[in-house]
Amino acid sequence: MTNSPDGLMPFFAMDILKRAKALEVQGRTVCHLEVGEPGAPPAPRVLEAVAWALPEPQGYTNAKGLNALREGLEGYYERQHGLQIDPELIVATMGSSAGFILAFHTAFQPGARIAITRPGYPAYVNTLLGLGFGVAEIPVSAGNGWRLTGAEIAVAHARQPFDGLLFASPANPTGASVSREQLADIVATCARLGVTLISDEIYHGLDYAGPSVSALELTRDAIIINSFSKYYCMTGWRIGWMVLPEAMIRRAEILQQNLFISAPTLSQIAASVALGERDYAEEQKARYAHNRHLLGQGLRELGFDLPRDGDGAFYAYAGIGQFSNDAMDFCLTMLDQAGVAATPGIDFDRTDGNGFVRFSYAGKSETVENALERMQDFLRAGG
Ligand SMILES: Cc1ncc(COP(=O)(O)O)c(C=O)c1O
Repeated sequence: MTNSPDGLMPFFAMDILKRAKALEVQGRTVCHLEVGEPGAPPAPRVLEAVAWALPEPQGYTNAKGLNALREGLEGYYERQHGLQIDPELIVATMGSSAGFILAFHTAFQPGARIAITRPGYPAYVNTLLGLGFGVAEIPVSAGNGWRLTGAEIAVAHARQPFDGLLFASPANPTGASVSREQLADIVATCARLGVTLISDEIYHGLDYAGPSVSALELTRDAIIINSFSKYYCMTGWRIGWMVLPEAMIRRAEILQQNLFISAPTLSQIAASVALGERDYAEEQKARYAHNRHLLGQGLRELGFDLPRDGDGAFYAYAGIGQFSNDAMDFCLTMLDQAGVAATPGIDFDRTDGNGFVRFSYAGKSETVENALERMQDFLRAGG
């Protein structure tokens, strides 16, 4: 699968997307459940604000980002989390993806080892390896709702010490969310072990059982990474943000100045407006909630192993043991024969991922319904 000496692997979801698009060019229709992208555009007011700003010269901004955006985020933390966050501790980034690069180089020396969960978001491993950092994987299991615990962190650290933990709740690909108590346990364990916590909060707002809990509510020593991609439907705008501990902010700013100069200006303007458009975002979330139920029930009826629906985000990570032990082959055959695109588990778990497929339900409900019908015919015909 890879000849790369550092272990870099393709992002298979993107490879499946490429193949799906090639089929579409040939005239086939494809149900896209492979990429974690909201089907809706950003809120209308966001687009209006950008149309107004467009004729103006769009120069670089301050490296940390526009004051309007960082002050908007100050208000976001006050309203959503009851926190006072100094806008000077906030950096606007080119999506959370750029936030990872800034976080790793701000908090760690080259060669440092960072722990992540397995399964987990593929870019975690690939970005860390590509930048010359080490990776420690902590397996999480369906039996525990795919949730990471402080005890698991401590066991993994005793086996092979690490300097940082990069962790998302809700998580990709499982949708697992930890409660406030569970997050407090993770935060306390990291503090006890001297591990720097990087909390990837990109799916915040998309918890189905209640409000998302930020690690900032429990500690000011963690690096917080967030994004406008998911909740605010702005994947292609490449805009996110970080909140850093006071001791790290200057180094992050210097890295931002040199690596990226500043986040895209128009996207910063769009993001400042998006923060006020939560009603629109909640409408999208209501659709995901409907799709979550629809897809979860449909997959279980078809024989996929999905003991329960995820707590948040917009993914179902389903076992395919009844059909195949080769997730890539299963996904390619399903795409070619049924026109349903989904992502093989090996994207998220290089050890056990062949037994799983991730379905994204961020698109239209009709797409989910259509995909389930197509999968039924495909699986009845022998898969
Ligand atoms: C857990 C997680 N973190 C980060 C990202 C990257 O998002 P962004 O568009 O903000 O770079 C994704 C994208 O799917 C994700 O699932």
